[in-house]
Amino acid sequence: MTPPLPVENGVFEDWPAHLAEVWGRVPTRTRHRLHTQPLMSMAALADLIDAYPRRHYSLIHMGARQERRFWREGDLGGLKGADVIACIAEGRMWLNLRRVDEVDGRYGDMLHGAYDAIAAQVPGEPMFNTSMGILISSPHAQVYYHCDLPGQALWQVHGRKRLFIYPNRAPFLTPESLEDIALFGVEVDMPFEAWFDDYATVVELEPGDMAHWPLNAPHRVENQGMLNVSITSEHWSASIARGHRVNVANALLRHRFGLTPRSRATAGPAYWTKAALQAALRRSSWVTRQRAARRPVEFRLDPAKPGRIADLQPALP
Ligand SMILES: [Fe+2]
Repeated sequence: MTPPLPVENGVFEDWPAHLAEVWGRVPTRTRHRLHTQPLMSMAALADLIDAYPRRHYSLIHMGARQERRFWREGDLGGLKGADVIACIAEGRMWLNLRRVDEVDGRYGDMLHGAYDAIAAQVPGEPMFNTSMGILISSPHAQVYYHCDLPGQALWQVHGRKRLFIYPNRAPFLTPESLEDIALFGVEVDMPFEAWFDDYATVVELEPGDMAHWPLNAPHRVENQGMLNVSITSEHWSASIARGHRVNVANALLRHRFGLTPRSRATAGPAYWTKAALQAALRRSSWVTRQRAARRPVEFRLDPAKPGRIADLQPALP
């Protein structure tokens, strides 16, 4: 028998009681209702894109080649939101609208309602610094193998996609990869082998499905043959934040000072030294330069040709 709906604010269609036992420990899928919200209609999303701040979006083009690493970052080129969505529907790209909850408070209310619903169901540390992104992506688009730093969930809104989730430990995830992501914010250069798939949990997502997985678990996504819209949500907790400080400090030791970190402790003197180190240096000009060099903007959408892009001249060093 299906249990009564335990989530009073209606974010979830159903929330089986046993989810509290496995939440964050293994990949999970549950049913939500965010895809039925007017804010997630194509018309509302087009309006959202119309005024989206440049600093809060990424447009990634995957090129004609099939190589896994062949992707470039670009610019919307001033197109109207509806035209941007048409371009994506015809092209091979994905648009990541970051911090949607900050850009438009109506989406912020949606996010907070969703996390209130989760927090009411799962025990553990308080979640804070929640953030919401909307990912609009082309038919058959892929998000390559990567991992994210905060706790994460993926809420499918339109279209269908296949999510591959891998164990959050070596060889799938190494300390070096995690530290580089923490310091430089570039998460797509993680080593990947085809046989990793033998150890992946594969989750098929359709509108109304939400997936959640263990912290830092690498994952990749393959769209089915239609335009896709998904919400990505993330959260921090005290222990996630402590681990992040260690990752940033270890990356600084490795790259800035040529040292090999020997500890990943999140308590004690070694931890507090690293917490101070990363606080002092994580926004330094050296880090800013290293980040910029790792992520240039190389194209913009071409208003005359939906689905096409125009190359930008590479910036001079
Ligand atoms: Fe991700």
